[in-house]
Amino acid sequence: MPIEDCQLIELPRIADPRGNLTFVEGCRHINFAINRVFYLYDVPGGADRGGHALKTCHQFLIAMSGSFDVIVYDGREKQRISLNRSYRGLYLPPMIWREMDNFSSGSVCLVLASEAYCEADYYRDYNSYLKAVSES
Ligand code: TYD
Repeated sequence: MPIEDCQLIELPRIADPRGNLTFVEGCRHINFAINRVFYLYDVPGGADRGGHALKTCHQFLIAMSGSFDVIVYDGREKQRISLNRSYRGLYLPPMIWREMDNFSSGSVCLVLASEAYCEADYYRDYNSYLKAVSES
């Protein structure tokens, strides 16, 4: 998938003096049905996460709290995207290599995924990923 298919998506915001509310509906705000939710938290300063691409799984990343950067790469182009709002997420199609760093203290990264966890869906080796992209 080309890097242009990675998209920042603005989610609805219900502003309220009691606190704001944002929601995400699969196949409406994001173009896939949500089959799994996971989150990264208690990330120590200076730690890197990610370092893989997924063969079929679509994902949507939101900084629920704090901020972090996502570096996306499609085998040709690389882009660094900062996530720092609870109402904005980053859609990542399959076959995008992603790394995450710059986690602020106390940040939480929520990930909505189109598929249940399956290790066979991962490229964790960068060279294997590059080979697959060049052959596609
Ligand atoms: P990993 O993919 O390395 O995390 P990240 O990309 O965020 O750095 O996953 C860490 C471990 O957690 C690895 O052993 C796989 C496991 N895991 C699950 O069991 N289920 C899941 O949904 C996810 C995302 C990971």
